[in-house]
Amino acid sequence: MNRKGVILAGGLGTRLYPITLGNTKQLLPVYDKPMIYYPISVLMLSLIREIAVICSPKFLDQYKSLLGDGSQFGISIVYFTQAEPKGLADAFIITEKFIGDKNVCLILGDNIFYGQGLESKILPAHKRSSGATIFSYPVREPSRFGVVDFDKNGNPISIEEKPSSPKSNFAVTGLYYYDNKVIQIAKSLKPSKRGEIEITDINLEYLNRGLLHVEDFGRGFAWLDMGTHDSLLEASQFIQAIEKQQGLKVACLEEIAFKNKWITVKKLLEASNKYSNSEYGDYILKILNKGI
Ligand code: TTP
Repeated sequence: MNRKGVILAGGLGTRLYPITLGNTKQLLPVYDKPMIYYPISVLMLSLIREIAVICSPKFLDQYKSLLGDGSQFGISIVYFTQAEPKGLADAFIITEKFIGDKNVCLILGDNIFYGQGLESKILPAHKRSSGATIFSYPVREPSRFGVVDFDKNGNPISIEEKPSSPKSNFAVTGLYYYDNKVIQIAKSLKPSKRGEIEITDINLEYLNRGLLHVEDFGRGFAWLDMGTHDSLLEASQFIQAIEKQQGLKVACLEEIAFKNKWITVKKLLEASNKYSNSEYGDYILKILNKGI
């Protein structure tokens, strides 16, 4: 199954001002690695190897110098720019040629997904060749998110964008699997009141067609979006706590690539030499020596 991956890493990051006046949110550190490593890791765990990064033109060079062509992770990365934030659904219009006739997975560049069972949730979504799969997650303040409501059999019946009176406490997370029809659906959308073309409208279209699957990540799983000063700090603390406790890294891209057999021992050695002064490099060396 051939599915392309798209990471949306544009936007203005206004809730992080003044930090994001001279920097892009998705390259900020989240404990020991840049934020964008986390969504890349989810795509790699989904076995997606062809990835497009959408960023603001101002930061294109920074993304390229960090990630290059992706070959160090056994993947291919290409870049697209979005001059201004026109909405999440714009991702499919910008990358139309890149997606071609394939299916696609979109992930937001400022989202972390972590927990046992991640792969068992995302691999079936990846393998589903038609329709859409989105993921819900219980949250305390649903009115900040797209909110999905279910009937008594657990089937989705409504999705509302940032409702003032949410019908449930299930937020739609920033990870979406679509068939190729998403491009035409995105192109047919009219901007919402806030002037954006909304991913919620795409999801509603799949819901109306009876082709929307909603999987719940549920309790015991962590979904973090790092849009505010507090959530950015908390995400770093969360990753630090897990990594210190387990001695295992979250979103070490070289490790995932090696386990997927996408890079050789030689590539792993190159990375560990390059990062030999950092704890990240030590970790890669441990993978080489012990095969963690
Ligand atoms: P948001 O958090 O909704 O927007 P933002 O990152 O610009 O932040 P703020 O609300 O503080 O101004 O975006 C979620 C993710 O999607 C984030 O990674 C930025 C990205 N994004 C785009 O790349 N293009 C867009 O048009 C929009 C709306 C978001």
